[in-house]
Amino acid sequence: MDMSQAKEQKAMKGNKDLLTKKFGKHGPEVPGLGFGCMGLSGAFAKQKPDDERYAVLDHAYQSGVYLWDTADAYADSEDLLGRWFQRNPGARQNVFLCTKFGNTRDPKTGMPAVRNDVEYMHQQLTKSLARLQTDQIDLYYAHRVDKAQPIEITVSAMKELRDSGKVKYLGLSEVSADTLRRACKVAYIDAVQMEMSPFCMEVEQRGLMSACRQLGVAIVAYAPLGKGFLTGSIRSLSDLEEGDRRRIFPRFSEENFHKNLELVDKLNAIADRKGCTNGQLILAWLMKNPLVFPIPGTTQIRNLDENIGAFQVEITEQDDQEIRDAISSVEVAGGRYPEMFGNDLFADTVPLEEYDGSQKI
Ligand SMILES: NC(=O)c1ccc[n+]([C@@H]2O[C@H](COP(=O)([O-])OP(=O)(O)OC[C@H]3O[C@@H](n4cnc5c(N)ncnc54)[C@H](OP(=O)(O)O)[C@@H]3O)[C@@H](O)[C@H]2O)c1
Repeated sequence: MDMSQAKEQKAMKGNKDLLTKKFGKHGPEVPGLGFGCMGLSGAFAKQKPDDERYAVLDHAYQSGVYLWDTADAYADSEDLLGRWFQRNPGARQNVFLCTKFGNTRDPKTGMPAVRNDVEYMHQQLTKSLARLQTDQIDLYYAHRVDKAQPIEITVSAMKELRDSGKVKYLGLSEVSADTLRRACKVAYIDAVQMEMSPFCMEVEQRGLMSACRQLGVAIVAYAPLGKGFLTGSIRSLSDLEEGDRRRIFPRFSEENFHKNLELVDKLNAIADRKGCTNGQLILAWLMKNPLVFPIPGTTQIRNLDENIGAFQVEITEQDDQEIRDAISSVEVAGGRYPEMFGNDLFADTVPLEEYDGSQKI
């Protein structure tokens, strides 16, 4: 039996009655598991033909995975979703559609840049609505916050977008607990989107989880599978295609890759005992927290089904403890991002009283 057959046997099958949870204090009931659309647009491995990409979206939709996450920065992702909505009349109203602005590139240097200025925000929303072929975004995030602009200014402009009806709910990504608290004084923030997985427990460690609990803010857990690493399906760098962008991520580096397998193997021992896969164990564990909505991405229907099977995995107190023990027993090797992308994580912004009023860019 090869590895993929063994994995198929272990994987619990998903069913269509996906457990829903309330999304933040004022949000709708949505399935506890979402779908990250970034990978479909070639974020890691080579982009697949449209028919195959539509088939994955069809399958997510038919399976009841309705929380879809995209961004203006994810290559052709918004265009793809817009075309998919055109092919599927009536589907738009069922999808909880989330997109983002603000994570961009400096046009001169090509280096990562953050833009939250008001004019840009309006422009990007107009473009996203057109690409997505819709007249309203369910959840609009600042993908990154500009540290030189007080969060109060960013959020009051986002609130205007919500008041205009073009956006229903507001979100922030990669912000500190303090930034979230300041933001919520200006307008209620429905969700924060943060990296969260056994590879990255900073949401708990840096006080964001308790801020979200206090404020009633949903936590959308991105890269919940550690970009695939934690599933155990990548055992060596040669399992990645030559041009796969994960090769530039520190945790996937030649130096760190093997060290990080230790956590994968520890999680695998727990998953084995429970008769599920690593990915299912992790997703079920994250979903158990009423605030947390993981959004794994996949380009494969088989993996999507496996991920949906996480709803069948029950996490007990003992499992929770074992998973936490496994996490704290290893030191993850390498940072979350390559250096050039690592400047705007858990961002704090300049205090309002120190702001001189000049907007960047
Ligand atoms: N806010 C932010 O700054 C930010 C940053 C990054 C990502 N995101 C969002 O979060 C979403 C998910 O993050 P991500 O894609 O970076 O990481 P992820 O969901 O942790 O991992 C995706 C990778 O895992 C693999 N995978 C998925 N299910 C699998 C399974 N059952 N078995 C084996 N491999 C599996 C996929 O490969 P296959 O395609 O082969 O299945 C893909 O390479 C993105 O799509 C995006 O929407 C947000």
